[in-house]
Amino acid sequence: MYNSVDENSSFEPNISELDMAHLQKLLQQQSQRRLLSENIAILGCGYVGCALADYWQEQGHFVTGTTTNWKRVASLSGFVSQVFLMKGDDADAMESLVQGQDTVVVSVAPTSSQVVDEATYETTYLATAKNLVQALNQAPTVKQIIYLSSCSVYGDRQGGWVDEASPISPSEPRSQILSQAEQILLQASSEKQKVCILRLGGIYGPGRELINMFGGLAGMTLPGKGDRVINWIHRDDIVEAIEFARLNELEGIYNLVDDSQLTVKEQIERVCFHYGLPPVHWAPSQLSLRRQSVRISNQKLKAAGYRLIHPQLLI
Ligand SMILES: NC(=O)c1ccc[n+]([C@@H]2O[C@H](COP(=O)([O-])OP(=O)(O)OC[C@H]3O[C@@H](n4cnc5c(N)ncnc54)[C@H](OP(=O)(O)O)[C@@H]3O)[C@@H](O)[C@H]2O)c1
Repeated sequence: MYNSVDENSSFEPNISELDMAHLQKLLQQQSQRRLLSENIAILGCGYVGCALADYWQEQGHFVTGTTTNWKRVASLSGFVSQVFLMKGDDADAMESLVQGQDTVVVSVAPTSSQVVDEATYETTYLATAKNLVQALNQAPTVKQIIYLSSCSVYGDRQGGWVDEASPISPSEPRSQILSQAEQILLQASSEKQKVCILRLGGIYGPGRELINMFGGLAGMTLPGKGDRVINWIHRDDIVEAIEFARLNELEGIYNLVDDSQLTVKEQIERVCFHYGLPPVHWAPSQLSLRRQSVRISNQKLKAAGYRLIHPQLLI
């Protein structure tokens, strides 16, 4: 038993000299060592996937990252152990990707060069989910699948609160596709292959700052009251929460949003104030496009022990 703690070590303790506390410490070290050298596949090394790959490479894991674009292969090779040039609907490539992996993270989204219509969503999310489930049947080493989904599956609640137990009602076809992909993966969950779905708010962080999204509106008059709630999550927290989900072997659905719960008006006000830009005015009498407004609870993930790095919006 002790040899298995570290088979390469010359340290061979005499069991009679060990008390239980010492034994537990050795077993902990064993599990930490196993976790220190996992094989991890990140399907979709984009904005989040790259940050995640970078983090895990630093930790000493063997990370395989995917891209659909041969022009990105060379740059990705700089910070993953292995690059796969593949799309999620390629069954053979998916089978190769998952072979020998311990953890698979799915972080796919249509690329910026694609027309983001329903057909693209189906190929990107549904075909990928179906192929992955199929490939997992031949990949007994995979212990956990972490799938990045979106809070858009809750649909419009006119500013009301939802949590993971709330029934979803995706109002538009693309969100319906996301929820179908969630279902496909959840149904494949088993004792040996856990599936964790993280429902993300809007992603922001380095290179995707709020000033770039809202700054162009400065000084304008916008229709409506700006009372729609938009939930955000910083990329640092996405990386950290995925690692938390992996280390704690989370399964099931978890919302991943920060605590800010601000309306669009409040968010734009903060951005304009921070950057010394002219304020945005609102015209309540003018009809605004009705879009999703919902307050997302993050209590389940917090109750599991996760602490947000950026609980409030970084402007
Ligand atoms: N953006 C948001 O605000 C937001 C909100 C909620 C949830 N999410 C979810 O969060 C995750 C990460 O988002 P992100 O912003 O990091 O995405 P991203 O930067 O757009 O990266 C997406 C990755 O998916 C790859 N990809 C595209 N189509 C594919 C296909 N058919 N098969 C396999 N891979 C494919 C892309 O390949 P290339 O390398 O070739 O580009 C890229 O590596 C995604 O699952 C997204 O749905 C995003």
